Amino acid sequence: MRIAVIGAGYVGLVTGVCLAEIGHRVTCIDVDREKVAMMTKGYSPIYEPGLEEMMRRNLQKGRLNFTTSYHEAFKEVEVIYLAVGTPQLPDGTADLQYIEQAASTIGTSLQKECIVVTKSTVPVGTNVRIKALIEEKSMHKMKIDIVSNPEFLREGSAVYDTFHGDRIVIGSENQEAAEVLERINQPFHIPIYHTDLNSAEMIKYASNAFLATKISFINEISAICEKVGANVDDVACGMGKDRRIGEQFLKAGIGYGGSCFPKDTNALVQLAGNNQHNFKLLQSVIEVNHSQQMKLIEKTQEAVGEIQGKKVALLGLAFKPNTDDMREAASIPIAHALKERGAEIVAYDPIAIQNAKQHLPPGIRYEESLINALAGADVALILTEWNEIKKLDLSHYVKWMASPIVIDGRNCYPLDEIKKYSIHYVSIGRPTINRKCLSVSVH
Ligand code: UDX
Repeated sequence: MRIAVIGAGYVGLVTGVCLAEIGHRVTCIDVDREKVAMMTKGYSPIYEPGLEEMMRRNLQKGRLNFTTSYHEAFKEVEVIYLAVGTPQLPDGTADLQYIEQAASTIGTSLQKECIVVTKSTVPVGTNVRIKALIEEKSMHKMKIDIVSNPEFLREGSAVYDTFHGDRIVIGSENQEAAEVLERINQPFHIPIYHTDLNSAEMIKYASNAFLATKISFINEISAICEKVGANVDDVACGMGKDRRIGEQFLKAGIGYGGSCFPKDTNALVQLAGNNQHNFKLLQSVIEVNHSQQMKLIEKTQEAVGEIQGKKVALLGLAFKPNTDDMREAASIPIAHALKERGAEIVAYDPIAIQNAKQHLPPGIRYEESLINALAGADVALILTEWNEIKKLDLSHYVKWMASPIVIDGRNCYPLDEIKKYSIHYVSIGRPTINRKCLSVSVH
């Protein structure tokens, strides 16, 4: 199939590259000339494991190319994927300006009838509007078919997820168009689920809202575990063994961030409100998530007393491991709160430092190694569970820090391991280990 993908961001680029990998001829369109030039040379503008190699392979095979020109991309196109951003407006609703711009341009540039597939996360009812807008702008009065095909990719494993997803949702009012989409996706060998347009749009929001709910739920349980002396990791594991509950997304920590959960939960609350439904449960999920991030500040305060003048090492800045994405990362409110309280901040992340500089407050010292960040620190805060942090020899905390106080927002270490060292260790929903007062460590 000849496919055009509009928007070469996380979703569009991964979708385009993976569609090329399974044999389609794909042209990715983006407005950013510099980005297009970079991608044409085989460099990915985002960090995503496996993406760049796959991009290069398909560029070489002539199945993938990049352009800024809709006209060029639409020459022989059969299917157009819409993968532009739907960021959040101040009131929480999804901003559809990029979708509308793209739809108008599809209308004015389309040279033949085709299928338009929406990958972007859009409020229920938007696909019908997109179709109407394209047809209204079409100079040659072209008819199109519209299909909603939401993505469920996690950043950091987006390529893997494309080939190993649990389901592909195809929402359409037209069976022929749905069958074309089914054929396009067949080589992925992932179960396909057909629905109408509105249900497909809703599946995306409901799935993200449910996963966010699991996270806030376990974070609430973690607070109770702290009070009653239970271990939330064991509780989550025990709960997850029940297949009706499932083990995934029950990891307590400093809450969810990223480009999807915060935005999509807010958008769903708004969507419900606009349809005279007060989505109380999801509002609480969002509230719990905000307070969860600030819990780390309270824990730091408790452990060090006055934060003013303390040298604080922030370990991990990205919203989760294996990505350089800083959108809605917990490190942002945490760094601001520490700055306001007069901390001297040193920060480390294996790959997100460049992006972090644009999001974190000024006056932070960035270090290129974990050990350099720890050297002389009064307290270390773990914000992202990078493998490098999880695998760190724990003696480094004792050896390099001015005082080995570790506040772990991601429960990176087993408590039994920590107990072997002279570390004051505070985590989420687990008993605090206070061994820094011991003059001789046990190891
Ligand atoms: C999410 C969805 O998983 C994906 O299906 C959707 O298409 C886009 O949004 P992503 O944002 O890339 O993907 O990351 P994900 O792995 O889902 O994690 C989101 C956030 O939740 C991260 O900040 C992560 O640290 C946090 N999280 C996740 C937890 O705090 N606990 C968990 O158990 C799981």
